[in-house]
Amino acid sequence: MDIQPLGSLARTHTCGQLTSAAVGQDVVLLGWVHRVRDLGALVFFDIRDRHGLTQIVAREDAPSLVSDAKHLRPEHVVAVIGRVERRAPEAINPKIKTGDVEVVAREIRLLNEAKTPPFPINEDTTVSEDTRLRYRYMDLRRARMQHNLILRHKAALEIRRYFDENGFLEIETPILTKSTPEGARDYLVPSRVHPGEFYALPQSPQIFKQILMISGMDRYVQIVKCFRDEDLRADRQPEFTQVDLEIAFATEDLVFSILEPLMGRLMALIGRDAPRPFLRMAYADAITKYGSDKPDLRAGMELRTLSEPFASSNFSVFKNAIATGEEVRGFVIPKGARYSRKELDTLAEDAKQLGAAGLVWARAADAGVQSPALKAAGEDVIRRALELAGAGGGDLLVMAAGPHDATSRILGQLRLQIAKRENLLDPNAYAFLWVVDFPMFEWLDDERRWEFMHHPFTSPLEADAALLESDPGRARARAYDLVLNGSEIGGGSIRIHDQRLQRLVFKLLGMTEEEAKLRFGFFLEALEYGTPPHGGIALGLDRIVAILAGEQSIREVIAFPKTAQAVDLMAGAPSTVNPKQLRELHLKID
Ligand code: AMO
Repeated sequence: MDIQPLGSLARTHTCGQLTSAAVGQDVVLLGWVHRVRDLGALVFFDIRDRHGLTQIVAREDAPSLVSDAKHLRPEHVVAVIGRVERRAPEAINPKIKTGDVEVVAREIRLLNEAKTPPFPINEDTTVSEDTRLRYRYMDLRRARMQHNLILRHKAALEIRRYFDENGFLEIETPILTKSTPEGARDYLVPSRVHPGEFYALPQSPQIFKQILMISGMDRYVQIVKCFRDEDLRADRQPEFTQVDLEIAFATEDLVFSILEPLMGRLMALIGRDAPRPFLRMAYADAITKYGSDKPDLRAGMELRTLSEPFASSNFSVFKNAIATGEEVRGFVIPKGARYSRKELDTLAEDAKQLGAAGLVWARAADAGVQSPALKAAGEDVIRRALELAGAGGGDLLVMAAGPHDATSRILGQLRLQIAKRENLLDPNAYAFLWVVDFPMFEWLDDERRWEFMHHPFTSPLEADAALLESDPGRARARAYDLVLNGSEIGGGSIRIHDQRLQRLVFKLLGMTEEEAKLRFGFFLEALEYGTPPHGGIALGLDRIVAILAGEQSIREVIAFPKTAQAVDLMAGAPSTVNPKQLRELHLKID
């Protein structure tokens, strides 16, 4: 069968459109051959586009068509002209929208051939991610990716509609710009016309959106690419998309009251709700209760402090730790009492991997209380610990001793591993949470200096402003994260709008006046011209869409993502460039 031109042929319907209402109509369908069933005297095949599948039949009474259809292979591009007919009752396929009908072909045009696909498009087989990314154009033909990209489009559209309804303006900010501090390395772009000078790709539009508030733009939003050179994971890409927004005269309550209904609108895209108001939890409480600043509330298993019974016991490991100001912390694994000796050993091994010095378990069995610490601590102490932790008959208590935060974090990670292993994370539940009152700074031991926790434009809590200079580690920030099912889907803050305070924060971060001027001089200057109080947030669009789509990795909701090594396997980026380009850019490769 020869390849033929499309000519003036136009499609009358998509491949997902025809139902019994169209029976008797003449139609033109254009798409890809999905599957061919050659029954000898007649041939059935499915034709596919992103809207769906339609069954085509080449019948005995048209032998040349039957012969043409026999030559079709999956992924060939075809035009089919024919008439819609009702399928025989036994051939009806209730699983697809077009399952009541078929198109009896009058003409089949082969518009283009296709090589044998590197993996089947018409079955849901497991294919390595590298192969999928290398042939992304084929991967994107598969139902899963089509569904995800359509969902992403709908989410972006809903977001734009929502912000338009609420008086926001979408304003573009530069991609070739100056370094914006969000805690990652910058991607740099050498300037040809200014030898030795570089643009940085924005880690976020942070400074520009604040300047837009100074400009009186009031309510800004942008769906925007951001670039960060950092270690990649399932939920991180070197370029990713933010829903970035900023509001003049904002308070935390105002920001939350705009974000929560938006999340409701997005959940509605998958037929779900986001009951409001969302829970709020202080950072310190999140660490104490869940050992994480982005706790997955679906898992239960709250961490408890269990020092009290051990403080005066003879179980020296815990007793000594408590004596030096450390704590015994632990949590209850529901129905964990059934764990075998081997499972208990694995659990202890997991805890050590996470950095715990050891893990002590305890359970109340029919035969009495059991724990490796039973002999040293005595039955009363173990019973009291089980009681304090709220462990019931079939449960298992696990405990570790150490500094409060570090031990909480280790147990928090163990908690999550167990929750995943034990299927305690209901895939149909959506737990939203605002984490608030983050510390302003964290101490970098290696560099012996304070680093910002969110970014250096974040305002301190009014009550803690005096601590900035006297005890920076205790100062809390007006920063907030939006967490959904243990994923940080957004982060923002009320900003500093007083240039004196901004200069002080730069100084506390170890910047000299000169450095601050060099990096942020334009911004410090802008702050002097009537800056309204303001605040905002940026949502991670990739992460939100991944959760809506039920995907574990954001790569599944990005059309052309990079691998964990930051490589575009399809285009082959990054790549070397020719010496002439390097010369023009005044660059020498070392
Ligand atoms: P932040 O750095 O918290 O805040 O980023 C906001 C949200 O963006 C998402 N995100 C990412 N998604 C995919 N890949 C990445 N590498 C990546 N990094 C971040 C997360 C995160 O919550 N300018 C501030 C916002 C503000 O203060 O208004 C900012 O960028 O979901």
